[in-house]
Amino acid sequence: MFRGLSVYTGNAHPEFANDVAEALGQPLGRADVFKFPNDEIFVQIKENAREHDVFVIQSLSGPGTSDHIMELLIMLDAFRRASAGRITAVMPYFAYGQSDKKDQPRVPITARLLADLVGVAGADRFLTMDLHQGQVQGFFSIPGDELSAFLPLVNYFTDDYAGRDDAVVVVPDLGFAKKGRNFAEKLRLPTAFVEKRRRGNTGETEIVDIVGDIGYRRAIIIDDLINTGGTVLNTVNALKEGGIQDIVVACVHALLMGGAAESLCGSGIRELVVTDTVPLAPGKRSDKIRVLSVAPLFAETIRRIHEGESVGALFTSPTVQLPLRVR
Ligand code: R5P
Repeated sequence: MFRGLSVYTGNAHPEFANDVAEALGQPLGRADVFKFPNDEIFVQIKENAREHDVFVIQSLSGPGTSDHIMELLIMLDAFRRASAGRITAVMPYFAYGQSDKKDQPRVPITARLLADLVGVAGADRFLTMDLHQGQVQGFFSIPGDELSAFLPLVNYFTDDYAGRDDAVVVVPDLGFAKKGRNFAEKLRLPTAFVEKRRRGNTGETEIVDIVGDIGYRRAIIIDDLINTGGTVLNTVNALKEGGIQDIVVACVHALLMGGAAESLCGSGIRELVVTDTVPLAPGKRSDKIRVLSVAPLFAETIRRIHEGESVGALFTSPTVQLPLRVR
């Protein structure tokens, strides 16, 4: 029905887009995406897109979140005007997921605004991974798929942790409680939950309470995202004070802003396990950071969307192998 499958990227995370294209066995489509001296973004698609099934890969992470969003919107508009057959906005990390409700007077719901913009700019579908809250899916008026790094992370930890009687999974943010508990259940481990409180609008947090037993030798701290690292760092310190010596931290979206990578890796943890939905700047790399590449999973999903095959079967069918690469 379409004239072919094409994959393009903006400047947010070209390495990830290249890995997806490689896993699909085809090169990335050529496009100029750059800024004029007046700070405005220019886009030109350099290949015929008419009637193509187009996937635009752009992670909406910072630094440069606003530019990455604008690049994506402008690319979507360019493909719409180039008469693409179908356009999918592939956002491995969807920004503003935490702005998902009016929880203070006179604040916006920016996740909803962004979802609207993606549709209005020209996307017919979206594809993303582990939204901060599942209900953000419903902010889009176009159909889409939300992938999860849940099973790749479970698989990564299974050999060393499944069923151990000296380990606990610690969830440092109650918003991740359900996913965290599912993760622990898959590994047949107990769970403890950290109740935290934000200090005003600074983004800083403090621990109010830990619900659950932390009298273990080892812990896996798991969250959907690490931003400044404050939430996880507070949790690491509390667990160390409680006597846990062996701590591994895992998350899906490693934003690792400012000195977060350095602080976490220097905090005495054994390993920081992240995915590659967000680029890891060279200055943030460390022997302690292990990157699980979800690019092959995105590639397989794109193939399935293009071929009209089930995406859900990737996560529910025991016979389907979840593609994954560990760096
Ligand atoms: C909370 O809503 C999230 O799940 C994370 O716990 C939080 O955003 C992490 O932020 P930071 O690393 O700045 O503490």
